[in-house]
Amino acid sequence: MLATILGALKESPAPLSGEALAGLLGLSRAAVWKRMNRLKAMGYSIEGSPRRGYRLLGLPDKLLPAEIIQGLKTRYLKGPIHHFDSLPSTNDLAKELGSQGAPEGSLVVAECQTQGRGRLGREWDSPPGLGLYVSLLLRPPLPPTEMPPITLTAAVAVVRALRRATGVAPGIKWPNDLLVDGKKLGGILTEMETESDCIRHLVVGLGLNVNNREFPPPLNLTATSLALATGSSFCRREILRAWLEEFEALYDLFLNRDFGVILDEWREYSMTLGQTVTVRQGPREISGLALEVAGDGALLLRQETGEVIRVTSGEIAPGP
Ligand code: BTN
Repeated sequence: MLATILGALKESPAPLSGEALAGLLGLSRAAVWKRMNRLKAMGYSIEGSPRRGYRLLGLPDKLLPAEIIQGLKTRYLKGPIHHFDSLPSTNDLAKELGSQGAPEGSLVVAECQTQGRGRLGREWDSPPGLGLYVSLLLRPPLPPTEMPPITLTAAVAVVRALRRATGVAPGIKWPNDLLVDGKKLGGILTEMETESDCIRHLVVGLGLNVNNREFPPPLNLTATSLALATGSSFCRREILRAWLEEFEALYDLFLNRDFGVILDEWREYSMTLGQTVTVRQGPREISGLALEVAGDGALLLRQETGEVIRVTSGEIAPGP
């Protein structure tokens, strides 16, 4: 019912009278008024009254499922979308929904996270209404050993989406940190549930700093947002739609084991290849020249000894 009212308000160039809406919906004018108040409470900006008519002035700056779906051009990655004002972690809920049999394409979005998680056990700063905190549930019919490149795929999709929706072109720091001006704009946390040699489900969690104007110390030294990088604010829904669309196109290739385009684009956006770097893996540090990213997502490093080693996890820092 609320969706029908919203649809009618969005389509009408002139204010819609309470009477017209009541007729359209088969409700009393008082019942229409009640629903208008519900929409206002959800954050929709609606001007008017039953007598003068109602006009939609603006949408809430929220990741409401009905607003995300509108204009989303994906074929199968389109929800159901579960939206929350606050969650401990969207990845945790997506994993739980995955265990309960939720379908591929299920999406968990939150306006804020109280225990947002990053790679390597870090926290992900998730203040209300400023960033994208999203987890996508996938059920790829592939063995777990073939999963590592999915994270590269998700990162390439973010770069494509941001170029298209915002004009900002971040670089990728291996494996999947999104950087602008050398600072971190976003990241991806992929988590997988397996059963013997099968994937039960996979959760791709995206965290993106969009409209943050400041970060608490010491994060302010290393983090940035689209707003800080450009001076403008951006529509989070539009970015999310673009990411889902770009991700679906690349996921189709991934499922066909057709990694060529994904790897080529990852190389093009990479800020790691060709650099001398140090990889920290807990207390262990390995330095070398980042030569290549392998088909499975591993980083190939040439050490001073000339030996080339494969690195599959860790945190990269510049220099030896
Ligand atoms: C990284 O360390 O770079 C990955 C950050 C991933 C953060 C996102 S926010 C949405 C999802 N839920 C989480 O708890 N983490 C991921």
